[in-house]
Amino acid sequence: MTNAYDIVDHSHDVIVVGAGGAGLRAAFGMAHKGLKTACLSKVFPTRSHTVAAQGGISAPLGNMGEDDWRWHMYDTVKGSDWLGDQDAIEFMVREANAVIIELEHFGVPFSRTPEGKIYQRPFGGMTTHFGEGKAERTCAAADRTGHAILHALYQQSLKHGVEFFIEYFAIDLLMDADGGCGGVLAWCLDDGTIHRFRAPMTVLATGGYGRTYFSCTSAHTCTGDGNAMVLRAGLPLQDMEFIQFHPTGIYGAGCLISEGSRGEGGYLTNAQGERFMERYAPAAKDLASRDVVSRAMTVEIREGRGVGPDRDHIHLHLEHLDPKMVAERLPGISETARIFAGIDLTKEPIPVLPTCHYNMGGIPTKHRGEAVTLRDGDPEAVVPGLMAIGEAACVSVHGANRLGSNSLLDLMAFGRAAAERCAGIVKAGAPVRPLAEDASDRALARFDRLRHADGGTPTAALRLEMQKTMQSNCAVFRTAEVLEEGARLLALAWEKRGDLKVSDRSMIWNSDLVETLELDNLLYQAVVSVHSAANRTESRGAHAREDYPERDDENWLKHTLVWCGDDGKPRIDYRPVHLQPLSNEIQSFPPKARVY
Ligand code: FUM
Repeated sequence: MTNAYDIVDHSHDVIVVGAGGAGLRAAFGMAHKGLKTACLSKVFPTRSHTVAAQGGISAPLGNMGEDDWRWHMYDTVKGSDWLGDQDAIEFMVREANAVIIELEHFGVPFSRTPEGKIYQRPFGGMTTHFGEGKAERTCAAADRTGHAILHALYQQSLKHGVEFFIEYFAIDLLMDADGGCGGVLAWCLDDGTIHRFRAPMTVLATGGYGRTYFSCTSAHTCTGDGNAMVLRAGLPLQDMEFIQFHPTGIYGAGCLISEGSRGEGGYLTNAQGERFMERYAPAAKDLASRDVVSRAMTVEIREGRGVGPDRDHIHLHLEHLDPKMVAERLPGISETARIFAGIDLTKEPIPVLPTCHYNMGGIPTKHRGEAVTLRDGDPEAVVPGLMAIGEAACVSVHGANRLGSNSLLDLMAFGRAAAERCAGIVKAGAPVRPLAEDASDRALARFDRLRHADGGTPTAALRLEMQKTMQSNCAVFRTAEVLEEGARLLALAWEKRGDLKVSDRSMIWNSDLVETLELDNLLYQAVVSVHSAANRTESRGAHAREDYPERDDENWLKHTLVWCGDDGKPRIDYRPVHLQPLSNEIQSFPPKARVY
């Protein structure tokens, strides 16, 4: 194709796509090492979804009582239902304390104890002594921790001279003839120009794909653009069936009410006023891991014990807590409850419902960020020139279920590790790899096809169809029948991609086209998630099969890999979980029953 677009060319040492916590941490780390670093973001950096992280970032600082990285590691392995890779988990938890001190030095205004130490609150599944006690491990800046961190990271990025390309929408990866990555093609929303960014290393920090669901805590921008670009490049995604439902999204609105609210003493009740978590998790109760609490709430509602006129949600109580403490430590959710549920949480309970919150799956990587290709089954083979970090990546430290507050830690630990690794691989000013001849044309052809889509299906209608399907057919509980129906409905939605209607053809601030490109990305991820879920005939972490209620380590202690081409038909394979830790300072935690 000879395309109708003039392309503006750029050359850097490294391109970071995404300016959330992981992207910014990696970007300024690379710039600090002397690499000419571009950071592309479709929104202004401080509007990236990390800004919405509330309750905190985990680290075994031990400011509120005893703690140890080994206990943190055990909790994370157990939280992952043993699907997490233990080498990567050891790496992350051992980085944690240094990460927090570094953030403090960057100016993050953490809440403080009376003695002036960083304040830490309890979070679900976080224990001491390998499950015996309750850890206070989550470092908090009130309930606006992500906001505080993101602003500090953006300031560091400016200080270190990261070159920002703000409100640039990444269209596709530019691959070379040997399957390596040579950069990314992007659209500048502000002036309508098309840009080819070339560098020896491209880092995807594009976040999760919560917006495949009708109700989610994720921003509208959480469309997993990097994941879809990876699939279109012929590379696999990993563990896409593991999708976390946060127990406390506001009923009807989906907005997050932080797990920190239960960390500070909040609890859940059903229509009978019963604190039902005592039946499901006698030790941890309301602070069991998220998959356990979300399932318990769903069972209560299904069995007729939900609250409200339709008995379709649950109450979260904070009204018994000291209002002064609530105002100091939970100001954000007090405001959210007032605006989105119309209630004063110091006086009445918040109506809540499990809501899609986080994707454990994503781009498979090594623990220093390099994307793995799994070509010819070689688990060590990396994709030259490509890294992934943050929620877009699957390292995998969260396995089948992430523990609350391990996400911000993941962003910081692996963002920093990727910067160091990249500085080790890429020499400043090194030449870029030659692109496949048709790389830019292929990416532009897809862009152009969607821009001129002139069928009968509005983007919003197809998006709603996909979101309703995911909400009904790939939620907290699953069966073969429900998942197969989901796959069938998504196949129909996939066909309608050819019948999309984009009304606005302009290149400048064309939100219709942005949403269409995002929908296309979401559809890829919805399809591979449902197929991966249908294939996994066991229950593990967030993947709860009613027809296969037990975890099956003999057959399923393995990661799912999934590829998906333009035909919308996924191909699935598996690879082993890394059960061996990184060092010999700790032994592997072998799988055992997971009770809270
Ligand atoms: O509940 C929360 O504050 C969310 C934290 C997390 O997802 O890590």
